[in-house]
Amino acid sequence: MEFLSITDASIAKAAGIIAAGGLAAFPTETVYGLGADAFNTAALAKVFAAKNRPRFDPLIIHIAAVENLGKIADLNCLSSTARERLETLAANLWPGPLTLILPKRSEVPDLATSGLQSAAVRIPAHSAARKLIALAGGAVAAPSANPFGALSPTRAEHVRDLLGEKVDIILDGGSTEVGVESTVLDITGERPRILRPGGVSRETIEALIGKVETAAENAAGQTPDTEAAGMVSPGRLKSHYAPRARLAVFAREDTAALPSSADGSAFLFFDGETRDKWLDGRRGAFSSAPVSPPVVKTLSEKADVIEAAANLFQILHEIDKPGIAQIYAQLAPGHGLGAAINDRLQRAAAR
Ligand code: TXA
Ligand code: MG
Repeated sequence: MEFLSITDASIAKAAGIIAAGGLAAFPTETVYGLGADAFNTAALAKVFAAKNRPRFDPLIIHIAAVENLGKIADLNCLSSTARERLETLAANLWPGPLTLILPKRSEVPDLATSGLQSAAVRIPAHSAARKLIALAGGAVAAPSANPFGALSPTRAEHVRDLLGEKVDIILDGGSTEVGVESTVLDITGERPRILRPGGVSRETIEALIGKVETAAENAAGQTPDTEAAGMVSPGRLKSHYAPRARLAVFAREDTAALPSSADGSAFLFFDGETRDKWLDGRRGAFSSAPVSPPVVKTLSEKADVIEAAANLFQILHEIDKPGIAQIYAQLAPGHGLGAAINDRLQRAAAR
C-alpha cells in the first residue's frame, strides 16, 4: 500500500490504479472513500471484501460533473416533478454532500446497486476527488473507507489503521471538512425521502424543494432503525458507525444520569457549557475518588452543529483507545447537522 499526499502525480497514480481494477482511498469533503471503478465488477467485489460489507448494502457512485449523470441514471424514468427536483438540487447543492437515489441505467453493474433498480449518485465538493474521478474514467463507486459497521474515517491515518494493506493506495488530504457522510435523498417517489441524514440538512433541502419525509416518519412513528426503514435503504442497519467501546447516549440536559465513577469511561459533550456545569458538579467526586481523571471531550465549545459534525468521528477515533470501555455521549440539538450527529451516535449506541 502506498500512502501519498495529494499532488497531481499522486492523483494520476491513484486514478491509474482505479482504472486498472485496484482500490484507492481518497478524501472527499465528508469522509474518506474507498474508490473502485463503478463499471468493473471484479473491482467492486474487492470493495465488498476489503470492508467485509454485506452484498445487500449498495454503493454510492461518484461522478465528477453533472454532465456524466446520464451514464449512471436513467432520467427518462423520472416523473417531470422528480426531474425538476433533480435539476434544482443539482444546481444548488452539487458538488456537495448530497447523494441522490435515481433510477439506474441497465449498464450499471448489479453489484454496485445490490440488485436494486436504483443507483445512489453524488458529486463530491473536493477538487482532488473530482480530478481523481475524472481521470479514473468518470464513475467511481466509493463507500466510506472503513470496515463495515466501524467508525468512519475523517483522516488518511484512520484509513491506514482500519484497512491497511487491503487498499492499494491512500491519498492523504488531511482532515475532511464536513466530517459526516452525505445526506442520502430518494427522489424517485412522489414525496422525496431522506434515507440517511448527513452533510446537507433537511432544512436546506426543504427550502429548495419543499417538504421531505424521513425514513423515521415513513416507518410510522418508529425509529429509523426499524426493519421497515432497513428495507428501503438496505445499508441502514441499526448498529453502525460503532467504536470498539460501548457507547451510551444521554439527552441534552440529562447529565444527572451520568455515573460518578469515571474508571474506563469517556464523556463526550456536545457543548462547552453543559460540560462545564457537569464538571463543576463533579469536582468533589473526581478529586476524592481513587480513579484516573476522566477522559472528557467536547464536539463544539460554542454549541455549533457544523463544527460538532466536523469533529465527531475524529474525536470518537481519539477516545476509542484501549482502557476505555464505555463512552457516554451527549446528543446534539436536532436542527441542521445535529440530525446527522444524533443518527450516528444512536446507531453507535445500538449494539
Ligand atoms: O459521504 C459519503 O456519502 C461517503 C463518501 C465517501 O462519499 N460515502 C458513504 O458511502 O458514506 P457508504 O457506502 O458508507 O454509504 C452509502 C449509503 C448506505 O447507507 C447505502 O445503503 C445507501 O447509501 N445506498 C446506496 N445505494 C442505494 C440505493 N440504490 N438505494 C438506497 N440506498 C442506497
Ligand atoms: Mg459507511
